[in-house]
Amino acid sequence: MAALTPKFPHMLHGGDYNPDQWRDRQDILEEDVRLFKAAGINTVSLGIFAWSAIEPEKDRFEFEWLDEVIDRLWKNGIYVDLATPSGARPQWLAQEYPSVLRTGADGRRAFFGHRHNHCYTSPDYRERVRIIDTKLAQRYGSHPAVIMWHISNEFGGECHCELCQEEFRSWLKKKYGTLDRLNHAWWTGFWSHTYTDWSQLRSPSWLGETSIHALDLDWQRFVTDRTIDFMKWEISAVKSVCPDIPVTANLMGLYCCELDYYKLGRELDIVSWDSYPAWHSGDDFITARNESLSHDMMRTIKDQPFLLMECTPSTTNWQPLSRHKRPGMHELSVMNAIAHGSDSAMYFQLRQSRGSAEKFHSAVISHTGTADTRIFREVSRTGRDIAALSDAVYGSTVPAQTAIIFDPENKWILDKIQGPRNAGLDYFGQLQDWYDYFFRSGINVDIPDPESELSGYRLIIAPMLYMFRSGIQDKLREFVRSGGILIATALTGTADSTDLCFTGEATEEKLSDVFGCWTEETDALDDGEYKDIFPDGRVKLLWERVRLTSGETAAEFHDPFFGDSPAVVKNRFGKGTAYRVCGAPDTAAIHKLIENALTENGCSMERAVNAPLPDGVSASYRVKDGRKLVFLQNFTPSLTEARLDGDYRDLLTGAVLSCTELPGYGFSVLEKL
Ligand code: GLA
Ligand code: ZN
Repeated sequence: MAALTPKFPHMLHGGDYNPDQWRDRQDILEEDVRLFKAAGINTVSLGIFAWSAIEPEKDRFEFEWLDEVIDRLWKNGIYVDLATPSGARPQWLAQEYPSVLRTGADGRRAFFGHRHNHCYTSPDYRERVRIIDTKLAQRYGSHPAVIMWHISNEFGGECHCELCQEEFRSWLKKKYGTLDRLNHAWWTGFWSHTYTDWSQLRSPSWLGETSIHALDLDWQRFVTDRTIDFMKWEISAVKSVCPDIPVTANLMGLYCCELDYYKLGRELDIVSWDSYPAWHSGDDFITARNESLSHDMMRTIKDQPFLLMECTPSTTNWQPLSRHKRPGMHELSVMNAIAHGSDSAMYFQLRQSRGSAEKFHSAVISHTGTADTRIFREVSRTGRDIAALSDAVYGSTVPAQTAIIFDPENKWILDKIQGPRNAGLDYFGQLQDWYDYFFRSGINVDIPDPESELSGYRLIIAPMLYMFRSGIQDKLREFVRSGGILIATALTGTADSTDLCFTGEATEEKLSDVFGCWTEETDALDDGEYKDIFPDGRVKLLWERVRLTSGETAAEFHDPFFGDSPAVVKNRFGKGTAYRVCGAPDTAAIHKLIENALTENGCSMERAVNAPLPDGVSASYRVKDGRKLVFLQNFTPSLTEARLDGDYRDLLTGAVLSCTELPGYGFSVLEKL
């Protein structure tokens, strides 16, 4: 696999650095570099919000301070991830070009303020961005320190201005061709909402249309496409000057779902993301589990390592409760990201800002300016260990035989569909419940979307995949036919890509041939309400009454309302097996379902170690040049011992072990011998 960062093919350790806030403090800028070296920092993300420092007035550029910073870093062996500054704009720009300001769903244009709030269509914004991006590329693209471009910052949000409305109409025209086709796909005869002229089309708004769910879906797809279009505009500005420097954009994992990150990520050379779990606010093992699901998703997008672009050195300042990471947790959380495929540990922020919104967000160098702090020491230790692991780990893969399908578009539509459970369908919660089994067992998992290649897996889980789009039926059918195990849950295969419900009893569109059943009724369960399934387990959220075709009952409900109705249907199809679970099983039921499915199909999954993991410990593995690298993480505060399945070398101490001691919030990185 080609290196993510060919100019500096090593694990990156560093983070966001804002010398633009300290231009009048030469002493601090020099001290920063000394401290970076002491902390083992080898890469900094520079210039993310530096537009007004680089272009204080229209067309007057001040690059000298940045020249000096980059040269100083380079002389000290520190590389640069150089940002385009489009994530926040100068006052003068908004004043002269009001079209750059974003418009809300109510049609009101914002005042100047905040960040991440430009109109991605505005020709003025695009032009000013093109100018500054090109200048940055011309000035620094061939500087030996610059190893990648950091395009903008955390793309997100939407604009409803008239320019964007026009773009939306063109997007719809291109997609549907005729209004007849659009009206049919959107089912607009309902409540007499039929469109008779393209100019009647507008984005969804609480002041206007919210009842056509296909409009909502298409709008969110359009917002993703517009964001990508803007991002590609920036990418082409820098790549037309220096085509060989890879580009990244920092995404936000599974939880920020307003954009389809799979689509966005495929346009980047490197996927990177900003990870801010709330450690020590609840069960850290569960927090780690949910975070690891995001790491795995980020890795799966391009099927290659990703970069952990931001995490906090200790505490954030925006969570409801800002707790510091307890001793050990910082390095543990970073190693967990690496265990799931990160080739970096980067932070927000390297030096804490003195004023404004993020002055209390922790940093490697705090307001005290000293290296004599707990946080600085923890970061430095992490830097040392990452450097020691770099040769073995950088560029290694995270092979997975299991996939849990996640479709951001399915999330969008599940949030809208109105019934059968407006109290929430908890799509993310269900993904996490399924992921739990693998996280506890040390089995690697991919998180593909419906457009990903699915044929190489042995087990695919499709939790509540309500919407079937992009030919997913054919992929899943082929997967099972050729020997795969598929497990799907309630609501899977209910509607098509414009939210038109499939009609008919057993149909191929719904994959009834593969599941061996079709759904007659879907009923909602209350919060905290479960329906038992026999012989073992229970479901929550929904339960379905299904009718068998070729399938057999593997478990059933015994209930006065549904009678003895199938709760799990098993269907042999081709060389494989499909399971339809008629509800959302809880984690205990999931563990049994997966174990049964694996046993019944004679399938055993490769694990990080073939030995049970202690409670609170997770494991995963990476592979490079035939070497298996095992990562064990203890997310509890107490010392524990993990048994191994043979001899391993500890990559940090060199010791050969057949069991490993994990301190509270400790970890081990081992190579199988
Ligand atoms: C995000 C942003 C950073 C900073 C951090 C704070 O990830 O990209 O600029 O605001 O959050 O946690
Ligand atoms: Zn706009």
